[in-house]
Amino acid sequence: MDGPARKRDLLSISDVAEELPSLLERAARLKSERQRGTGRATLPGRNLALLFEKPSARTRTSFEVAIRDLGGQATYLAPADVQVGQRESVADVARVLSRYVDAIAYRAFRHENVAELARWASVPVINALDDLEHPCQVVADLLTLRERWPGGFRGRRLAWVGDGNNVLHSLLLGCAAVGLDLTAAIPEAYRPRPNVVQAARALGDRTGANLAFAASPEQAARGADALYTDVWVSMGDEADEKARQLAFQRYRIDDELVALARPEAFVLHDLPAHRGQEITDSVMDGPRAAVWDQAENRLHGQKAILELLLRPGPARRRRK
Ligand code: CP
Repeated sequence: MDGPARKRDLLSISDVAEELPSLLERAARLKSERQRGTGRATLPGRNLALLFEKPSARTRTSFEVAIRDLGGQATYLAPADVQVGQRESVADVARVLSRYVDAIAYRAFRHENVAELARWASVPVINALDDLEHPCQVVADLLTLRERWPGGFRGRRLAWVGDGNNVLHSLLLGCAAVGLDLTAAIPEAYRPRPNVVQAARALGDRTGANLAFAASPEQAARGADALYTDVWVSMGDEADEKARQLAFQRYRIDDELVALARPEAFVLHDLPAHRGQEITDSVMDGPRAAVWDQAENRLHGQKAILELLLRPGPARRRRK
């Protein structure tokens, strides 16, 4: 006998691995409708809580605009407001917010807290960045790549230059899910977590995606179809800043590195950028930068995510 349909969460990009192509298709359609002014309110009256332990420009703003465009509204809870785990337990926050809103986007220091919130919330929980993953970012990244490669992901190669961080974790899983090759140049001490690489390679075995590590940024960039970098010191890694500044000195996207990639190759950065560190002004402000499209695509990607988790349907009803 069927029980009540369970709510669905997005804690890892691998939670939507199967639907990524249709999610990207929907995001592209939502983008085109917004540009033509024909967007529809597909989530009227829905409420989204933005529970943030860390600062944000893109994630907060794009979620707020996304839910408003779809006919709903957002409530932003700043780090000092809730003090998850200090003023109140994660489980109690989850149970209370579930009585007010239809979904919670949570930006946390620890992935364990996001998983705990999802465990106790009766509404969908969306990982809005934690120490393990940044799945919403990678939906926007793949949308940006898809727009520039109308022939699809197969046969293309993305080069990552820099830290083996949360964004790379989601990117490895996301690229593997859509069959896109990825080569990462990362100092040995800052490689991604082995269990994530293993999971991504298992996904890649099914789609044909090749996930590899390069010995240097130059090796990764040579012949690549796109380059991607991120800050050397992510939020939460500040205690290791000095060591990271030294380790990543050669892991910078500049004009010389871009010149090694294919002539039509372009550059991604999830932002905020530390200009002069992981990326130069010349690349950020130059014709090869896709970073502004990438930032815009957070909006369209998140609309598609909100629809997937919140639109009524047999698999998406609220848990009783
Ligand atoms: N890329 C990203 O998540 O940006 P914010 O930290 O500004 O949300």
